[in-house]
Amino acid sequence: MSKPILIGPFTQLLPMSGLPLKGALTDQQLPIIENGGILVFEGRIEQVGIFEDLKSDAVDIYYVEGEQVCLPGFVDAHTHICFGGTRARDYAMRNAGISYLEIAKAGGGIWDTVTQTRKASQEELVEGILQRSKKHLQNGITTIEVKSGYGLSVEQELKMLRAIKQANEKTEVDLIATCLAAHIKPKDWNGDNTYLEEMASTLFPIIKSENLANRIDAFVEESAFSTTEIAPYFQKAKEMSFDITVHADQFTPGGSKVAVQFDAVSADHLEASTEKEIQLLAKSNVISMALPGASIGLGCDYTPARKILDAGGALAIASDHNPGSAPMGDLLIQASILGTFEKLSNAEVLSGITFRASAALKQTDRGVLQTGAQADFVTFPTKNYQEITYHQGQLKPNAVWKNGRQVFKKD
Ligand code: NIG
Ligand code: FE
Repeated sequence: MSKPILIGPFTQLLPMSGLPLKGALTDQQLPIIENGGILVFEGRIEQVGIFEDLKSDAVDIYYVEGEQVCLPGFVDAHTHICFGGTRARDYAMRNAGISYLEIAKAGGGIWDTVTQTRKASQEELVEGILQRSKKHLQNGITTIEVKSGYGLSVEQELKMLRAIKQANEKTEVDLIATCLAAHIKPKDWNGDNTYLEEMASTLFPIIKSENLANRIDAFVEESAFSTTEIAPYFQKAKEMSFDITVHADQFTPGGSKVAVQFDAVSADHLEASTEKEIQLLAKSNVISMALPGASIGLGCDYTPARKILDAGGALAIASDHNPGSAPMGDLLIQASILGTFEKLSNAEVLSGITFRASAALKQTDRGVLQTGAQADFVTFPTKNYQEITYHQGQLKPNAVWKNGRQVFKKD
């Protein structure tokens, strides 16, 4: 039988609890427990408080060494880490002045990764996910959303979703799958108009019966699916009780309106959102998801994160880790850099990769350190939490805990 174990003392413990889901935040609002501890029982948090005060409730104590700041494990709520091949050629072409959309039209872009992913076996995809998840875990990420979307046929999308499910069983990180069969129109589909119908009528029921995903995503963009094309697809997904999420307003506005219309859990990208979309999102329950990794990878504008927060919106930040637009895949570097360009407080950056990100995944038992939550947390070798974004991802975690177990410790 397991017993309550106390972990600490942490020089600063930031539980990220009691903070609003929406709107701007100042660092003064951040609760900080000095010399804090976490009491863990059977993978969940029993109590968070001052280390000395919790000692009497603990059967075992795990003492951490030196100065450490403890935060909830990070949540990367938008990635495409299931893929085959590379797009280094696209990257070089973009830097030679050819646009992402021009490359896509010429047969590169997402379709290139579809071709390479279709060639990979399910086992090879699992291996790729595991390698990438391991790197993310060592950077403090304990929950990762992973999309399909490089299969673009019933069989190939299933291969990706089954690979994500299999990888989830093998890794310490929690992987949350999303079906992105509506990524682009497959070039080998005879009759564009029926592709989405086929996905909704054939793929959705198998996803349900095999319990492969609860979330449906679509790329709403001129080069992918229009707002009119996607509406019946999302309608069907809603009828089958899937959560909706949208690749919205990346190059042209439009997707965010659909996200609000279908009460999506999140609208992601938003680099091209104007004042109108910002207001619409801020008034809704849809979480706005900034993807600075895509801005850095494509060399284009950042999501107007400051404006979204000031308008009262909920802002999460994710890596978008994918072989095309966001190959770097380092959430903390990207979130810190977004902070400098968009003038975000530490509280806003850290909320964006903890409880605001877990809310976008409807996994509210994490991203926060409080009684009942999963004991997922990350520690950094510093006495001041401000050092974390200041070093822009170069201050690396010294330990990561998942479900109350230490799953990473720096040598
Ligand atoms: O989120 N915008 C659409 N999808 C991905 C890019 C995927 C790719 O380029 O392979 C994104 O940026
Ligand atoms: Fe994406």
